[in-house]
This record gives sequence, structure tokens and C-alpha cells, in this order.
Amino acid sequence: MSSLAEPKIFNQTNRVVESWYWAFKSKDLKPGIVKPLKFLGKDLAVYRGMDGVVRAVEAFCPHMGAHLAEGKVDGNGIRCFFHAWKFDEHGSLVDIPCRKTPGISEKIKSYPVQEKYGTVWIYTGEKARHDVHEIPELAGVELASSFGNSFIKECHPNVVMINAIDAHHFTSVHKLPVDVKFETKAINQTRIQFNNVTKIPKTKWYLKFFSRFYAHNLTYSMVYSAGSTGSVTVGPDFLHCHIIFALRPTAEGKTEGLTILVTPKHKGIFSIFNPIILFATKCVGNYFAKGDTEVFKTIKFRFNRPIKEDESIIKFIQHLEKQPTADWGFGEKLLEKTVESLARESHEETQMH
Ligand code: FES
Ligand SMILES: [Fe+2]
Repeated sequence: MSSLAEPKIFNQTNRVVESWYWAFKSKDLKPGIVKPLKFLGKDLAVYRGMDGVVRAVEAFCPHMGAHLAEGKVDGNGIRCFFHAWKFDEHGSLVDIPCRKTPGISEKIKSYPVQEKYGTVWIYTGEKARHDVHEIPELAGVELASSFGNSFIKECHPNVVMINAIDAHHFTSVHKLPVDVKFETKAINQTRIQFNNVTKIPKTKWYLKFFSRFYAHNLTYSMVYSAGSTGSVTVGPDFLHCHIIFALRPTAEGKTEGLTILVTPKHKGIFSIFNPIILFATKCVGNYFAKGDTEVFKTIKFRFNRPIKEDESIIKFIQHLEKQPTADWGFGEKLLEKTVESLARESHEETQMH
């Protein structure tokens, strides 16, 4: 049984929720290019075939272990640098140049890939069971997107993510003059939404002014996928800003993050609004990212004393704890390493005495 103090998935370096995690900006991977990627502790070779389709395969060649990102894209497949074995777009070995036919069968492991929001996403399972993160009010809408910062945080993505629904700290850290209260809705097994249900108070002249642009509640909505990718929707009724924080854990439990800005695509003459709106969205994103930087450098997250006001965080954790985890293995490797280093330490201690 998992509990808030001892969760099994939330903030755990040895468990990976089976889902999509960001890999590259699409524009950084041109056709015919292969790149190495440390992806949630695993070494991958990610390449775009000549057909424009991105493929992600395990990095090390089954022959002698050369990193396939040292090799070359060949058509829609990949050819190893070392002895030039070729694996086709499905990962099957199709050519050993020193032989007429391969004569052996071999397949490298590959992972599902999707491109969305100008970003390459890789799935941590054999077959994708759901789609890449979606912002409910933008479902089915043609989008324009751009990028904000990419960043590293010293703690697990789940800990970074809950910051956006930590209503309690909006006043203590960000000095927000507005109370935020969330209504929670589990969209499906991997996705959960938190919508603010408070109105802007009319206590100050500028609050009174802003409240004219909100017919109902103050728009502040957060949607999470797999506890690692989250999008915030804020702004007056005539202009919602959408910011996606795409995070992935490293094997050490740190966070590699990418900020993606999204807006419905304006067409024709109105297309000049796209970069303007995206720039405004970027400024909003920067505002959100500011303020908490220092705490993420030193926090050792332990939820030993949850209080009623932490309700939305509790719901986030409870939802995450029920999500399917991937057969990923970097956690076990870390554990092995810990056991090994403990054994080494105790051996050294014995030698010293
Ligand atoms: S190591 Fe890849 S072909 Fe030999
Ligand atoms: Fe914050």
C-alpha cells in the first residue's frame, strides 16, 4: 500500500510511469540525422529517416555494442559505424556488408515516437496506450507553438509539477493578491485537471479593472499527463495563454524540462498575431517559473505533515499512484549500484581496520 509519506510512484527514481516524455525539438532533428539521447536513464539513438519519420532505438549495436548514434541514417534505417550492420525502420537487421545475406536474425528494440507542439515525444513502453499530452480546450484545433526555456531542476519532475497546484504557496512565495481554490477532475487514467473556482476580488482598483475581463472565475487551469507533463491555461476570456511544462526524470531523480508555448493558429493576415501571442505567453511562463528556483535546488521532498490546504497535491499524488509503470529498469540499475557501492564501502572499511 502506498501512502503520502511513502508513495510508490510519486517522486520515485526507480519507477517510470508508462507515458510520453519529451525528447527533442523537432527542428533539431533533420532528415538523415541521428543523435544520441540519455532518456530517463536509458541510452537511445534517435534519428529521422529520409521519409521524415522519427525513430527511437536502443543505443547499443547487438554486434559489439557500438553506439548507433555514431553510425549513419541509411534510407529509413540506421547503419552502425563499426562494422556497418544495417537495421531497417522496424529495427530488423537487414545487412551485414561482409556477407551476401545476414544469415542471422536480430532486432534492436525501438520505442513509439510522436511529434506534437514542434516536439519529438518518446513513449516508455512497447505500444502507446494513450496520446501525447493534450490541452482540453485545444482538442482538435490547429495550433502554433514555440519554445521557452529548457532547464534542469535538482529534484524529481513530480515535485516540480505540484508547484503549479500548491495553492498555499501562491501567497507565501508569489504574493498573489487572489485566493486560488481548485476543483479536480480526473480526465482518464493518466490525465488529471485542476480548475480554479474563485473570482477576482474587487478589493483594489486594478483588481476591479481586471475582473471585467473574466465573465466567471479567474481562469487558471492545470492539466497533467503522467505527473510529468503539465499545461497551464491562464488569461482573460478573450486571450487564453497555454504553457506546457514538459519534464522528464533523469536516472538520478533530477528534472530535464522544456517549456512549450501554444496558441490556436491564426491564419492569413491574422497570422501576425501568432508570434505576438506566443511572446506574451512566454512572458507569462517566465513569471510562473520565477520565484521557486532556489527551493528546487535544495528540497528533499517528504510529505510528512499534509494539511487540508494541500488537498490538490494529495489528489495529484493519489491519481499518479494508480498509473501503470513501465518495465524500464533504470531504477533497478541504480539500486544495484547502491548495493555494489555499499558492499565496496564495507569492504574498504574492513580493510582499513
Ligand atoms: S558493433 Fe555494430 S556492426 Fe559491429
Ligand atoms: Fe511557484
